[in-house]
Amino acid sequence: MADLNVKISNLKLKNPVMTASGTFGYGLEFQDFVPLNQIGGIIVKGTTLNPRQGNDYPRMVETPKGMLNCVGLQNKGVDYFVEHIYPEVSKIDTNIIVNVSGNSPDTYAEAAERLNGLEHVPAIELNISCPNVKEGGMSFGVTCSGAASVVREVRKRYNKTLIVKLSPNVTDIASIARTCEAEGADAVSLINTLMGMSIDIEKRAHRLSIRTGGLSGPAVKPVAVRMVYDVATQ
Ligand SMILES: Cc1cc2nc3c(=O)[nH]c(=O)nc-3n(C[C@H](O)[C@H](O)[C@H](O)COP(=O)(O)O)c2cc1C
Repeated sequence: MADLNVKISNLKLKNPVMTASGTFGYGLEFQDFVPLNQIGGIIVKGTTLNPRQGNDYPRMVETPKGMLNCVGLQNKGVDYFVEHIYPEVSKIDTNIIVNVSGNSPDTYAEAAERLNGLEHVPAIELNISCPNVKEGGMSFGVTCSGAASVVREVRKRYNKTLIVKLSPNVTDIASIARTCEAEGADAVSLINTLMGMSIDIEKRAHRLSIRTGGLSGPAVKPVAVRMVYDVATQ
């Protein structure tokens, strides 16, 4: 059989299949459908230092070959994850990778530090690219200085494998990837959603509560492939 093992710094994956954060819950919700131990890594829902309610509804709309969402990082906070979710997900025989978001370099770093000691979380994915929150989120991922400020602070307080999830809503994604690498990131993941909008012309109204949302699905794949190529070759 082909050897599908992958190594990202100290993170060892039995194969390169990983779930996209926010699309697979905490994994357990899917155990009746997928043998979870056959997945290389489960990247769980976006987690922040403090609990977040997320945005008002409607938060989702279907688009041709894709969807827009503006969930807005609804979660119960990192301490809830550590106390209530970690004991359950740590029983799954795969890598659990927590997707971490924040509204300042310090809140990212504080959340990362609280995850550092968890034996079954060998890596985190920093989300500096969420288009659906007012403070932080994507604003850090669209400039080299913003990305550097978060990665630098987190690297001081997190010593395991650090993956940084980049935003496609930029002109030059390769320079942002290089900046993350220079500040100590072990890998980058591409791409988060593309910022979009949908309008119901009959009602003359926006379809999403905060007007804009992140576009995902087959419609964005060619953009993702081009950006992976840019980052890998430049
Ligand atoms: C409903 C929904 C929630 C998401 N939540 C997060 C999240 O919490 N953190 C994150 O980094 N990305 C989040 N994403 C982005 C996905 O992880 C992924 O980057 C994006 O959907 C593009 O990939 P795809 O077109 O293969 O779905 C979310 C996407 C969707 C559709």
